[in-house]
Amino acid sequence: MTSSPERSFFSTRDIRQAGINPNYWYVVAQSSEVKTQPIGITLWERRIVLFRDTQGKVAALEDCCPHRQVKLSHGRVQGDRLECAYHGWCFDSTGRCIDVPYLEKNQKLSSSKIRSYPVREQDGFIWLFPGDQAVEKVADFRISEWEHLNYIATVSVIDCNAHYSYLIENLMDMYHGHLHQDWQAWADPVLQNLNEKRDRVDAFYQAQSYYKIDKIWSISQLFFPALRRLHPEPLNVSYVYPHWVSTLGSDFKIYCLFCPRSLTSTRAYLVHFTSLNAFWRLHKLHVPFRRFVKNRLFGSAQKLLDGLVRQDVLMIEEEQQAYLNNPQQHNHELNRAIAGVQRLIWVQATEEIE
Ligand code: FES
Ligand SMILES: [Fe+2]
Repeated sequence: MTSSPERSFFSTRDIRQAGINPNYWYVVAQSSEVKTQPIGITLWERRIVLFRDTQGKVAALEDCCPHRQVKLSHGRVQGDRLECAYHGWCFDSTGRCIDVPYLEKNQKLSSSKIRSYPVREQDGFIWLFPGDQAVEKVADFRISEWEHLNYIATVSVIDCNAHYSYLIENLMDMYHGHLHQDWQAWADPVLQNLNEKRDRVDAFYQAQSYYKIDKIWSISQLFFPALRRLHPEPLNVSYVYPHWVSTLGSDFKIYCLFCPRSLTSTRAYLVHFTSLNAFWRLHKLHVPFRRFVKNRLFGSAQKLLDGLVRQDVLMIEEEQQAYLNNPQQHNHELNRAIAGVQRLIWVQATEEIE
């Protein structure tokens, strides 16, 4: 029996055991989550503490006090330093120990440093580079709509007990719209084109949509599916490693920003934007008013987005459980985009060039 190339690819590589390529910027928190006190996060088995100094600048350190290995995120921020909860040792934003409250005159501070990570605050999120600092790249994945006055944002946090590959496969497979039934703005997707590169997969679907942001009749169709009149819209989804972005026509744009925690746990931030570009009269108004409208409408799709996420997470976690129960079980996959996603994950995780 001859085996297809796809078959031999999957039989030799277990994608659910793939790691991450650390030489990318990952999203580890929303800006609004990092306030005056430290927070602990996990990025691919690494425990990291985030805190702000007196200038509001975010720092990221290994979340482990070198004295007794407890989490520094239990501590507190004192000025520009992070103070451990247990005995009060203090660390600066580079991870250097700069004070021990009970140090005797003949004793010296430990010269050992805890690891610090490159971190930046951009487009509403905290981005962290966990990889080799010698190859640190510019964080080129931008979310320009975050500040743009014509876009209304909603953020839904995804926490799922599953390998990140299950989530990105869900996001790239528009045929799973079946799960969401009447909740989604699109229907009848057909995959038309697939482009694969070393660091991204772009899938181009043709879909149908009933929604037009500037048409009042769209509102009634939202609540009464029987009234829906469909029109064709391009639906494009891209895995821009390690994140995801999608557009439906010109009214909607969605990002999913990944923070894989471990082989079986993933956090991600789904950021949904509704465009106000079609309301040209709005653009003539004063900037402060437009900003007021943007801020006021922040989160207006929350209920819908959270509901969609709940449905997806249920499926993704069941897939993970089925895999854990029987890792040898092969899925029967028909969507070409999934094979592309899996190839990309493997290439990135192993730095292989296929
Ligand atoms: S464990 Fe942190 S100061 Fe002792
Ligand atoms: Fe979904």
